[in-house]
Amino acid sequence: MLDAVFLFSTALPVLVVYITFWLHRFQKVKTTSDLEGLSIAPYTSIAYPLLGSLQYFSGHWDFLRSATRNGAVSFHLARQKCIAVPVEKRHEFFNDSRPAFALAYAVMLGATPSMNKDFLSSMGFDITLGGRSNKFLSALVRNQRINDNLPILYRYADECINGLGTQTNPFDTIYRTIFRLTVNTIAASSIAASPVLCDTLAKIFHELDQSGTPATILFPWFPGWERMQRFYLMKQFYDIMTAAIQERKIDGRNDGDPMQYLIDAGLSSLEITQFTLAALFAGIANTGIVAAYFLCDLATHPEYLAQVREELNDFVSQFNPDDTLPLIARVQSITYEDWITAGVLPVTDRCLKETLRLRIATPLHRLNNSGRDIDIAGTLVPKDTILTFHSSFMHHNADIYQEPLVWDPERFNEERMEDKVQPMSFAAWGLGKHQCLGQKASFFEPCRFAKFEIFLLTALIVSSYDMQAIDKDSVPITKMPPVELNNTVISPPNPEVHLRLTPRG
Ligand code: HEM
Repeated sequence: MLDAVFLFSTALPVLVVYITFWLHRFQKVKTTSDLEGLSIAPYTSIAYPLLGSLQYFSGHWDFLRSATRNGAVSFHLARQKCIAVPVEKRHEFFNDSRPAFALAYAVMLGATPSMNKDFLSSMGFDITLGGRSNKFLSALVRNQRINDNLPILYRYADECINGLGTQTNPFDTIYRTIFRLTVNTIAASSIAASPVLCDTLAKIFHELDQSGTPATILFPWFPGWERMQRFYLMKQFYDIMTAAIQERKIDGRNDGDPMQYLIDAGLSSLEITQFTLAALFAGIANTGIVAAYFLCDLATHPEYLAQVREELNDFVSQFNPDDTLPLIARVQSITYEDWITAGVLPVTDRCLKETLRLRIATPLHRLNNSGRDIDIAGTLVPKDTILTFHSSFMHHNADIYQEPLVWDPERFNEERMEDKVQPMSFAAWGLGKHQCLGQKASFFEPCRFAKFEIFLLTALIVSSYDMQAIDKDSVPITKMPPVELNNTVISPPNPEVHLRLTPRG
């Protein structure tokens, strides 16, 4: 009885006042713009009061596809305003340099304590290091630096291949190898040199990667369990980085590695940790999982596995024709540029491109943090609004790719070239201003490094083993599980897929 009285006398009126206030606030944002004549993205019908479009969390792809059926649509996630951008506006989404990139992901993956950039900087937190972050990353993945490190990268790759056993879960073992190669290249050689430390860092990183939940995104200000856990993980990450920095300072060592580069650039321990975390997020999650998917896609398509094996073997033979030697001995004279020169591995390239097209199904984000309303393709984008797009608008679109859910590398051959029929149809490396593999020289390097890592590990594995895809109970499978389009980040297949490896004579 008391509960009912409380509900009707207090809770309901408070709720109604709050909803009214909140709706008014949202409406106000849309109408205070000084930009005349712009269309306003209509508000989605798929929303709950206060909390907004929770459907976004349970099914990104289903929600964004259905919301944008008739053009741009606005929605909200608690206090965060968002606009879902339809496929027809992709040029503007990718080419406009005004909205922020890194901060948008921090907000939408629940990484920041608040989306307010003044609040962030008042806490000394600057995810882009004043815009210098990409410059540092580009410098670290320059050809010369990677070439100087090749012997060690080859050694780590070889250690991984030798330790695989007869059955392996590539989403664990290959992921961890990519982690080690990437830590050596963009973080610290002393950490990469210690398998135990590297695995500890990988574990912390993985937990951090998983720790963004709907709750941390909806209520970024709330110091709930997930946020405390995230701070604790970041502290552990920071402690490992700081210990590595201190150790070399005490020993008077100059390791000539990424950490040294960042120390010499005048970065503090906190800034080095921030940079490393952001760079690893960009560099590892995608590469580790794509490398594992690539092996599984080849294992379930033996005709392509045979072609890729032959092509990689011919490629290595150009540098060392002695095929009585193990591959790792034969690759030693191959440079980084040799691996990544366009067109040298056409079949392998096509197959990887198809794995990327099929498997990368993620929402992409930008944040209008310019402090004022802007327009994108004639649509008003109020300040502090997130723009959200989905790579599947192109990659899983039957108007662009025939039978889009089928793994078919031939769609990229010279006759079909399905990705070239309509402009901006292939976004797996990004497009426009923030592409991973783009025209802008400074951003040209990072994803080429990903390609190198994937090609190297694939060459070593397919030359050493015959591969068969199996489920986790060791039963052979000939087809990969259906592609999951609704995950926030690219994720391993469900159910799990492992590989049975038989050493080749
Ligand atoms: C298979 C591996 C990879 C894939 C599929 C991939 C994919 C992408 C995509 C789709 C974007 C654009 C996202 C958007 O438009 O919102 C992007 C941007 C970026 N990627 Fe990658 N990436 C990979 C590996 C790497 C690696 C290894 C690094 C670094 C070592 C890296 C660094 C970056 C950076 C810094 C950007 C942002 C560039 C900017 O701010 O303009 N990526 N990547």
